[in-house]
Amino acid sequence: MSTFVTLSSGRVCLRRWRDEDREAFAAMNSDARVMEFFHSRLSRIESDAMVDRIEKHFTEHGFGLWAIEVPGVAPFIGFAGLASARFNAPFTPCVEVGWRLAFAHWRHGYATEAARLALGYGFGTLALSEIVSFTSVANHRSRAVMERLGMRRDPAEDFDYPGFPEGHRLQRHVLYRLGSPSYFATC
Ligand SMILES: CC(C)(COP(=O)(O)OP(=O)(O)OC[C@H]1O[C@@H](n2cnc3c(N)ncnc32)[C@H](O)[C@@H]1OP(=O)(O)O)[C@@H](O)C(=O)NCCC(=O)NCCS
Repeated sequence: MSTFVTLSSGRVCLRRWRDEDREAFAAMNSDARVMEFFHSRLSRIESDAMVDRIEKHFTEHGFGLWAIEVPGVAPFIGFAGLASARFNAPFTPCVEVGWRLAFAHWRHGYATEAARLALGYGFGTLALSEIVSFTSVANHRSRAVMERLGMRRDPAEDFDYPGFPEGHRLQRHVLYRLGSPSYFATC
């Protein structure tokens, strides 16, 4: 499978990362508003290391977290895409759909539109049977994206994300699932 696939819809284009994206990505990863629900903000070195991990994931799996371009607006506004979860939980192994946008590009519908492209690729091209998403309980913006995508949460599946220390205020996470039949019934 090609690792250079590009996906596009009415407004957004999901593409592989370019070196020029790294500076804008580091800027958003140092923004407290963007990183409110993560362990900490990222330094330039940590941000670049994340891009390296994203690129490695594309190479190993043939899919990943694509860079988002909005033609006519900005060459890079953040990422959205699919990733294999890297921790053990009752619902792993699994493929997760995720997103992170620069603050200036929130509230335009770009995250939901980009995630729909990723879901289409996951259920269509990759023929996945299920895609999940998860976030801290309090991350209502991200949960709203999951709900707009038709993903469903069972509170019984809430879990403690292992990336946070015991008792951390962001440790409790919600899990949302979307199965292939539900996806195709609504798209
Ligand atoms: C999570 C995140 C991507 C959500 O961003 P968002 O802007 O709320 O989501 P969308 O891009 O889907 O935009 C939806 C909003 O755009 C509005 N909108 C404006 N124009 C629109 C259009 N043409 N089409 C669709 N929606 C539009 C919607 O009404 C909605 O607004 P609301 O927030 O007032 O309800 C963003 O908050 C973020 O990057 N957060 C930091 C990273 C993060 O927490 N990631 C998730 C970790 S699990």
